[in-house]
Amino acid sequence: MSDNKNNNAPIMQLWTREGFAGPLSLVSRSTYGPDFLSVQGPHAPRRCVIEGLVPQDQSDADALPSVVATSKLGVRLLTSARTQPMPFTVRNVEADELHFIQAGQVKFDTDAGSLIADEGDFVCIPRSVAYRFGPTGGAMRSLIMETPSALNLTPPGPVGMINFSRDVKLAAIDLDIVSTGPMSLLLKTADGEITRYMLAHDPLSLGGQMTSSVPVWKLNLSNIQLHAYEPHGGPPSMFLSSRDGEALVFNLSARSGGRPPVHVNADFDELVFYVRGPGAWGGCDEPGTLTWVPKGVPHHGPSEAVPEGYQAWLLETRATMRFTPEALAASELMETGNYFRHPSVSG
Ligand SMILES: [Fe+2]
Repeated sequence: MSDNKNNNAPIMQLWTREGFAGPLSLVSRSTYGPDFLSVQGPHAPRRCVIEGLVPQDQSDADALPSVVATSKLGVRLLTSARTQPMPFTVRNVEADELHFIQAGQVKFDTDAGSLIADEGDFVCIPRSVAYRFGPTGGAMRSLIMETPSALNLTPPGPVGMINFSRDVKLAAIDLDIVSTGPMSLLLKTADGEITRYMLAHDPLSLGGQMTSSVPVWKLNLSNIQLHAYEPHGGPPSMFLSSRDGEALVFNLSARSGGRPPVHVNADFDELVFYVRGPGAWGGCDEPGTLTWVPKGVPHHGPSEAVPEGYQAWLLETRATMRFTPEALAASELMETGNYFRHPSVSG
């Protein structure tokens, strides 16, 4: 963690509002802002490998995805590892959902159509679209983000970062879903409250799509172009955001450029999901490593200029996230230089 504290050269530390879109302050200092000896309390950086979080739905087909982190703003992170398809249908009436497929292949059926998602795909299911999903062979693993306001693909330009016509795949009607019943439909609110309806018919049995717009789509992380300001790098560019700005999502895979200064992010928690290598991103080399730096905590972050390459994405959220007890138990305190386990943690 100390490769950035070279000699006695001054260390740059950047404080920013509104991500990188608002006021900022850059200072030099002789000591390394991310260093801390120990910490007590909840507002502390952590890391975990999501394989270590065993969701209930892995062994219990009747279970819902397990919550990893919550917030007062209603932004939540969950994880699923189903081995069986959902025997019920869910409609999230208070949040849009973005499912990232870390492992396996997953079929999503919704009341806007169906699609099959593969590793590296983001799948967007807006609020009040009913859905169910299941692995199409073997086990799957996903990380799910819920946001109260609508998610949209918002790259910085209409072309370039995302090839919409080629790479954004819309759900399509699956006529093989027959209208057999009875079937449970679970209405889910932002705090996880469940109201269970029993329907005489399968709500996802559809006849045809009558509009050209389809709200359910998928996009693979590897098809989102990276944005860098040559030769120094600069901040990443978001490709997806929520309408009220409580969540911004960036491709944070390997890219060229220099290492940015130490950062204090005044308004956003930063959660990076390291998907896979081959290259390591600082202290992250296990696929499915989730790192969390709460807002206001000085951090540097590993260099993104990794020649071997790696895949990762960043969620910046105005919500102040809190890990659930299960996620706390499966995670460890993290240093915020290169995102290794903090040296105060034994083992
Ligand atoms: Fe940052």
